[in-house]
Amino acid sequence: MASVPFDSRDGVIWYDGEFVDWKDAKVHVLTHGLHYGSSVFEGERAYGGEIFKLRAHTDRLIESARILGFKIPYSADVIDAACRETLSRMNLVDAYLRPVAWRGSEMMGVSAQNNTIHLAIAAWEWPSYFKPEERLKGIRLDIAEYHRPDPKTAPSKSKAAGLYMICTISKHAAEAKGYADAMMYDYRGYVAEATGANIFFVRDGEIHTPTPDCFLNGITRQTVIELARRRGLVVNERHILPDELATFSECFICGTAAEVTPVSEIGPYRFQPATITETLMNDYMAEVQPKPAAAAAE
Ligand SMILES: Cc1ncc(COP(=O)(O)O)c(C=O)c1O
Repeated sequence: MASVPFDSRDGVIWYDGEFVDWKDAKVHVLTHGLHYGSSVFEGERAYGGEIFKLRAHTDRLIESARILGFKIPYSADVIDAACRETLSRMNLVDAYLRPVAWRGSEMMGVSAQNNTIHLAIAAWEWPSYFKPEERLKGIRLDIAEYHRPDPKTAPSKSKAAGLYMICTISKHAAEAKGYADAMMYDYRGYVAEATGANIFFVRDGEIHTPTPDCFLNGITRQTVIELARRRGLVVNERHILPDELATFSECFICGTAAEVTPVSEIGPYRFQPATITETLMNDYMAEVQPKPAAAAAE
């Protein structure tokens, strides 16, 4: 069954402070965010009715906008409450949430000093059930032609829509060759990340992951590092050269959407998802489950 396009679904969307019918949550074609990429967004996930690390996502949304030079006209408390209410009004339990903020239509040029800032929040069902044995087969990654840009040439710490141009181009190129996704190098040639997720490797029982100095320090990435250290595993955050790819035994990517997804191939390199990947995959799935109030307060 072809899925229903995102602009034709049923439900409500939180739009500039109120709920509007899903199909009416529109922007005009002359919107700065559409023409000049002045838009930032979040990708959040709810498990068992609770949005995992909601405040961290909201803080990043506000910070992403600040980096692009605009201020979202709602406090973090209001945004958090709006996300929760969107989830509840949509009657969703396991879901994906997409807050997006953008510059409006008052000015239509590079300068947009007077444009109003808009915020919308949509949520849709996204079950998290997967068969671990299926996932453990691992996905295949291509190596992208585009590199993550130098922070001096792009606002790389912002989850800005414009930074996804090279991700979509790279993912499409990978899919055309039969791969699930692509791994990107950074502007110096170090291993960076996948098109929508961070990357980890294992060698001799230790974890290695690129230093996030020109791409997002993902909320999932930070969670996985914490979970690994809780298990007593050594996590090395450092620059990783392409030559090293041949020396790693395990590889996985992680992100809000990807959760912890084992990788079996990156271009000519082969990996065998094994104990550390499986442990972190399971630990992550346990971590995202809502905690009983008493445990959460500890
Ligand atoms: C390019 C990119 N890197 C990394 C991540 C992982 O971030 P998070 O774990 O906060 O979802 C994402 C997903 O948001 C992403 O799009």
